[in-house]
Amino acid sequence: MTRKLFIAGNWKMNLDLASATALAEGLKKAMQGIQDVDVAVCPPNVYLHAVATVLEGSNIAVGAQNAYFEKEGAFTGETGMRMLKDVGCRYVILGHSERRHILHESSELINLKVHAALEAGLIPILCVGELLAEREAGTTDLVNRRQFEGSLSGVSADEMKKIVIAYEPVWAIGTGKVATPEQAEEVHAALRALIAERYNAEVAETVRIQYGGSVKAENSRDILSKPNVDGALVGGASLKVDSFMGIINGR
Ligand code: 13P
Repeated sequence: MTRKLFIAGNWKMNLDLASATALAEGLKKAMQGIQDVDVAVCPPNVYLHAVATVLEGSNIAVGAQNAYFEKEGAFTGETGMRMLKDVGCRYVILGHSERRHILHESSELINLKVHAALEAGLIPILCVGELLAEREAGTTDLVNRRQFEGSLSGVSADEMKKIVIAYEPVWAIGTGKVATPEQAEEVHAALRALIAERYNAEVAETVRIQYGGSVKAENSRDILSKPNVDGALVGGASLKVDSFMGIINGR
């Protein structure tokens, strides 16, 4: 089975209203006529509505970078999944390493968010990835397995088919130190084997696994050509039309 490539831009805490909408306008124009790849952008929550309005009717979907698991109520500063859906989101990134390591989110919390996202009709992009010290200690597979199992506990096979996994080695994020295509492929294959083990071969063949960490037009083609790499989650290089389109057009 062939999985459709999925390239998403994680804008992180960057841009302002004018530059976010201008970037969306530029991408919308540049993406005209491109059908064989799924593309999404994930702006900061505060710009979601404006960006989704620009991208309405285009072939670019919108995702959020995080949200809370409770439906509504006294949770000052948080954003609910239904609110994301309401302003036009299709995806929500959950368990990004910056949330795991800077904001101290646990896999248990991320698991609650995954269930809340699915219930609201959003597609989670669930991130996993090891620290440099964990890779050097030979625990890469163990760490990814633990994050995967903790974050996806209680997820049914049908739900799992909708979920996107993003493998983002923490040592490669924002460092310019991209994983080699072989390193990415090795972990992606291990993650797919894990999905087959926990679910079945059909689910494993369906789930798309993106690679993230210093992806640029110059290195994306080799990584994306690997059989178990089904796309990319792009940080820095997603902030400009040319660099993001370079990845999309360079595949
Ligand atoms: P960079 O592409 O800037 O390394 O960021 C990767 C990332 O964290 C995407 O979610």
